[in-house]
Amino acid sequence: MNDPSVLADDASVPPFVRIANVTMKFSGITALNALDWDARRGEVHCLIGENGCGKSTTIKILSGIHRPEPGAVIEIDGKRYDQLNPHLSKQIGIQVIYQDLSLFPNLSVAENISIEDALGGYAKIISRARMRERAKATMQRLGVSLPLEAKVGDLPIATRQLVAICRGMASEARLLFMDEPTASLTRAEVNSLLGVVRRLKADGIAVVFVSHKLDEVVEIADRVTVLRDGNKLGTYPAAGLNDKRLGELMTGMQIEHVVRARDCSSATPVLEVRGLGRDGEYRNVNFSVRKGEIVGLVGLLGAGRTELALSLFGMSPPDRGEVLLDGKPMRARTNRQAIDAGIAYVSEDRLSIGLNMRQSVQDNMVLAVLNRISYRGGWLPPKRRALVASKWRDRLRIKIPSLEAPVSQLSGGNAQRVVLTKWLATEPKLLILDSPTVGVDIGNKKGIYEIVHALADQGLAVLMISDEVPEVYFNCDRVLQMRGGELVGEFVPGRDSEAHIEESVYA
Ligand SMILES: Nc1ncnc2c1ncn2[C@@H]1O[C@H](COP(=O)(O)OP(=O)(O)OP(=O)(O)O)[C@@H](O)[C@H]1O
Ligand SMILES: [Mg+2]
Repeated sequence: MNDPSVLADDASVPPFVRIANVTMKFSGITALNALDWDARRGEVHCLIGENGCGKSTTIKILSGIHRPEPGAVIEIDGKRYDQLNPHLSKQIGIQVIYQDLSLFPNLSVAENISIEDALGGYAKIISRARMRERAKATMQRLGVSLPLEAKVGDLPIATRQLVAICRGMASEARLLFMDEPTASLTRAEVNSLLGVVRRLKADGIAVVFVSHKLDEVVEIADRVTVLRDGNKLGTYPAAGLNDKRLGELMTGMQIEHVVRARDCSSATPVLEVRGLGRDGEYRNVNFSVRKGEIVGLVGLLGAGRTELALSLFGMSPPDRGEVLLDGKPMRARTNRQAIDAGIAYVSEDRLSIGLNMRQSVQDNMVLAVLNRISYRGGWLPPKRRALVASKWRDRLRIKIPSLEAPVSQLSGGNAQRVVLTKWLATEPKLLILDSPTVGVDIGNKKGIYEIVHALADQGLAVLMISDEVPEVYFNCDRVLQMRGGELVGEFVPGRDSEAHIEESVYA
């Protein structure tokens, strides 16, 4: 059992996990370079760094998925392990909540949460009642409530993330890795998760927490390790660090935010939405987005933002009202029609509708423009595909060894940029971005915002959906607030303060 009296800051106690000289290469590319690192019982240890710096790789080595180069030392609970594998790692008490969630979309919530338990025994009869019980107990511990019988594939991304968290915690853990557990959660859900993390810590469990939300890191960490390009910059006590300093450590740069907020009121409207409504989702929505304008749409989960976006993108038709694009009525009934009309949509859920993980980077990039760049009959010369893909790779500075690599090999943030490329390649009039920088590190976030700003400067109209007020505050010309399916406020960054908008949104 874990001994709660063993405290995190007691450096005389041997760490629960210690690794030394861990190097990991993927087809010649060094993802981790001679890493020395440890995690103690009862501490929250945050692992931060830019996209692709090796955070998930570190986790996958300790969960036995990847084997490092010879010469690596791995010690867990004082014992040395030369050949770790997923089964052994779990036996030792290492549990992981993976970044890609790794859920079974065709199984129910209860089945997903209790799957380990169900698969664990020999020819054990899997009792549904037992599974439900187990899942319920875990949910209670987390303070969340989930529809146990619902099929996971039908649930929104935030709910799926909660399912993945419950699953990671359903089994006894001594070390729990959480790889960006909060990426799609709302503020309230994040708070309840951080509460759980504190309880685990008090139970003497080592929690290793990966996040790009640096304010969370500051709030929860006892120690922070910063990785840069596979190298460890250092491990620091969290006391005395703030998010600004962490950002500097991660990127080696000072990141300044400047309000954009340009007045576009005299530009021609690209999108006009009049009296739009869809039963049970949103009603009486009126707004416009003008040429070159970036309009933010903020609100909490369930405010109706994504539903509205899906309607504009032809995926769930409105029941009433009208949408004009370039002054002409638009009645897209499928996303294909919306794309042809000039609308692009970067969904919040990059892992299911955003990308085909098994396909190559370049295939994903050209997916939405296939009919435009192929010859008649659908043949696309490989050279042409590579040309289009490499142009966008360079423009968005996507770090990949090869355009032919499957998307599943990309780090999370680079995958996000591939999604963006896929839609920018359609050369839209209106770009709808739903939580465009979820899982993207602060340095690269800035890179993505710069791309969006540059596109707007060339006349693109942008609708940016977000639940992070700073994101819309610094990057939009105007901000609309949605609550309970209705537009309830309009703000101009700079004229209205960031704090004022936050108050209104989180009230
Ligand atoms: N299976 C794989 N095959 C080839 N390369 C890989 C594989 N997994 C990871 N990589 C590469 O190793 C590097 C580190 O990736 P990793 O997933 O550890 O990054 P990360 O720090 O978790 O980033 P993010 O914040 O974007 O999730 C990246 O360059 C990535 O492309
Ligand atoms: Mg990762």
